Amino acid sequence: MSIIKNNRRQFLQHTALGLAAATFPGLLLANKGQVKSRPTPGFNPDIEMQMTARQGYVQVLKSGPRTRVQKFYAKLMKGPKKTLQHLKGNYLGPILNYEKGQKVRIFFNNALSEPSIIHWHGLHVPQKSDGHPMYTIQPGEQFVYEFEVMNRAGTSFYHSHTHELTAEQVYKGLAGIIYVTDDEEKKLNLPSGEFDLPFVLQDRTFNSRNQLIYLQGMHGRMTGFLGDTILVNGKPHAEFSVKSRAYRFRALNGSNSRIYKMGWDDGTPLTAIGTDAGLLEKPETRPYIMLAPGERIDLWLDFSGRPVGSKLVMYSLPYSGAMPPMVEKRQKKKNGSSKGMGMMGGGGLAQGAKFPIATFNVTEKVSDSPKLPKRLVKFNRLTERDVDNADHPLPIAISMKPMNPMLNGKSYSMERVMDFEKVPVGSIKKIKIFHDHGMKKDKHEEEGSNGKMDMGESKSNGMGMGGMGMMGMGGGMGGGMALSMAHPIHLHGQQYQIISRKAGGMRLDEYATVKDGFIDTGWKDTVLVMPGEEIEIIKPFQDFKGFFLYHCHNLEHEDLGMMRQFYIY
Ligand code: C2O
Ligand code: CU
Ligand code: CU
Repeated sequence: MSIIKNNRRQFLQHTALGLAAATFPGLLLANKGQVKSRPTPGFNPDIEMQMTARQGYVQVLKSGPRTRVQKFYAKLMKGPKKTLQHLKGNYLGPILNYEKGQKVRIFFNNALSEPSIIHWHGLHVPQKSDGHPMYTIQPGEQFVYEFEVMNRAGTSFYHSHTHELTAEQVYKGLAGIIYVTDDEEKKLNLPSGEFDLPFVLQDRTFNSRNQLIYLQGMHGRMTGFLGDTILVNGKPHAEFSVKSRAYRFRALNGSNSRIYKMGWDDGTPLTAIGTDAGLLEKPETRPYIMLAPGERIDLWLDFSGRPVGSKLVMYSLPYSGAMPPMVEKRQKKKNGSSKGMGMMGGGGLAQGAKFPIATFNVTEKVSDSPKLPKRLVKFNRLTERDVDNADHPLPIAISMKPMNPMLNGKSYSMERVMDFEKVPVGSIKKIKIFHDHGMKKDKHEEEGSNGKMDMGESKSNGMGMGGMGMMGMGGGMGGGMALSMAHPIHLHGQQYQIISRKAGGMRLDEYATVKDGFIDTGWKDTVLVMPGEEIEIIKPFQDFKGFFLYHCHNLEHEDLGMMRQFYIY
């Protein structure tokens, strides 16, 4: 990373803080020096650890040289031993095992040669501990996180969140999985210990010396990085030896932009017991399950009754419609001419191609297995009656211009919030996520740093409507429509619920390849929005004030600026 870029980042960081402090006195920087923060005196942690981001060398591929990676190394200073579950010889950070109610302090040390910061994706924590890119620290610096685990039992994700470097740093390895448990979950007697396993899905491309290759140049950033090697828990050709009983597999899509359609090759359906950071009210069974970057699915995989020696392969099944039509066409052409299914020029694996994810070998017969509970957890189902803006949902409008994916017509800007992005703490809001292919020239395109918050320029509710009106795919594919693709939209802070998903502008035959794979009944923090879809969610904005991001979790999109923030006041 060049010095110029570094300086620019530092500059941004300082202006953002300066402006925010000026605009919101007392909120952000009550004490100076929070950026290189210090432990808070009255905060008595149950868990205390050091976490360091550092370059390392890991044997990722079976043979040949080790791969240079960036990795989170952690050391427990206080708290239950099981808090950190190290994955030996892996670039993934340790599994973090939390319990609801625990107080956690983490000293994050940046031992990289570039800026970094960690975000706890899925955890409901104060702004200051959320890894907002304004807190990015420089090489050699330390940042102190402090929070109480307020989440229910579920699976979350931690990863680098360094603006403009998120994609690359996550790609190089700065990621890990988080488990939260609570009393309600413990009563369910779900598979635990050796029967409760992570299932982190990522794709990478290696050169002949086993080193990671990331996107070269800008080409490909618009659609996102797609690797040709599928890794599960940091390793290729994943195989699990299982007993003939039920398992819990915590699937987390930690890929930059690949969307998986998880399914058994023989058509056996898949059962889920949890979605992003929470257990479901009751299990859900689907022929296949879509998993977009940032999403999690707790799978109940039951091998009981399977004879020893049987072998099951989980695939990512073929689907279409997630990429811009032109790109998909190009991919299909290449698929036809090359031998491997789904091969794309240069050895890439197309979005929507079929490929094996992992093999499960039943190696031991056991006589009993936990039964899938009929009911899982109590669920507080949110409805329009809980919100104060049923008729005026907050918009999240997705748009793509060449090299410029945006939300609500804007690129990310650390020091800005639009009027409608300001939400009073404690409120519960309806939010509508949709594609906005309006051809109207965006008059805010040139968003200079003129040193003030975008208070007056709300385009709020008006903007969305036009977007949906122009959908219909039948006609032209002019302008933005030609770039139409799937986006996993993630909101920081508390999880939300999906109240409706309407398909409009996608070809029905393409939509049919994905539509049965969404589990919209649970708590979510990331939702896959297919082209033409309009999704309504209800999200609580409780407990914490401050800046909370929302962005596309296609990490290339995020780094290209497809990110905004709510200001909770
Ligand atoms: Cu997993 Cu803001 O990201
Ligand atoms: Cu997040
Ligand atoms: Cu996107």
